[in-house]
Amino acid sequence: MGEFDGRVAIVTGAASGIGRATAEAFAREGAAVTVSDVAVEGGEETVRLVQAAGGTAVFVRTDVSRPEDCEALTAATLERFGRLDFACNNAGIAGEQAPTADYGLDAWRHVLEVNLSGPFYCMKYQIPAMLRTGGGAIVNMASILGRVGFEGAPAYVASKHGLVGLTSNTALEYADKGIRVNCIGPAFISTPMIAGLENDPTTDAALIARHPMGRIGQPQEVADVVVFLCSSRASFITGAFYAVDGGYLSR
Ligand code: NAI
Repeated sequence: MGEFDGRVAIVTGAASGIGRATAEAFAREGAAVTVSDVAVEGGEETVRLVQAAGGTAVFVRTDVSRPEDCEALTAATLERFGRLDFACNNAGIAGEQAPTADYGLDAWRHVLEVNLSGPFYCMKYQIPAMLRTGGGAIVNMASILGRVGFEGAPAYVASKHGLVGLTSNTALEYADKGIRVNCIGPAFISTPMIAGLENDPTTDAALIARHPMGRIGQPQEVADVVVFLCSSRASFITGAFYAVDGGYLSR
């Protein structure tokens, strides 16, 4: 028996990294999970992993930068599982690396569409679904770069700062309606997103040095906080930014 038996969760960007670990963590607690991603193969692999561990999951292909996909994602979840209790709006991209004056216009728009508009489109359709059964909990995947800057990543930093603000605002709007909305700010986590940096020994050492704990994080360490924020143990927490950062922001 898990804490989330009979409950239903959506995880976006669940084909790899933090999203996959989160889908597996929700399923371990007993929730049925809609695994969504643009990447079909990885998404289906996540479903297989959840099922192999005895959990329930389906894959729904979703590009979070397309509002119609986000609407269809919630609709498919309601059709398959009958309700929606939790959502982890996790899909995100690092985008191009360049200083502001050199940053491509299309690259800027694309990062903002995926990382900021994506969670907005997702919540727009998740909230009415949650209200049907009296509420729920949403966790948006921001970043430590939703609090501080990082040279060469203007679009990513702006998108994550925007997501922290959007989370506060949505939390205010639904605080007395049974929906809690929080966000997480991971520091560097070992996933395909940072594989290029991790595989280069010089960059890897520089990255590690930014974390007072002397290491980067693991996807499971973020997934555990998502599950906590959706659980009844977090019943008085809304509008919060939870750093999962090995001390990065304390410097
Ligand atoms: P990842 O690259 O392993 O996973 C991201 C997933 O999002 C991929 O499966 C990808 O296919 C999917 N995705 C990309 N664009 C999409 C779209 N338009 N629609 C739907 N899915 C899409 O990366 P990771 O690290 O697991 O990232 C997950 C979230 O965590 C992202 O929002 C990222 O910004 C955030 N994050 C990651 C950190 C890290 O160091 N890995 C640090 C802080 C935040």
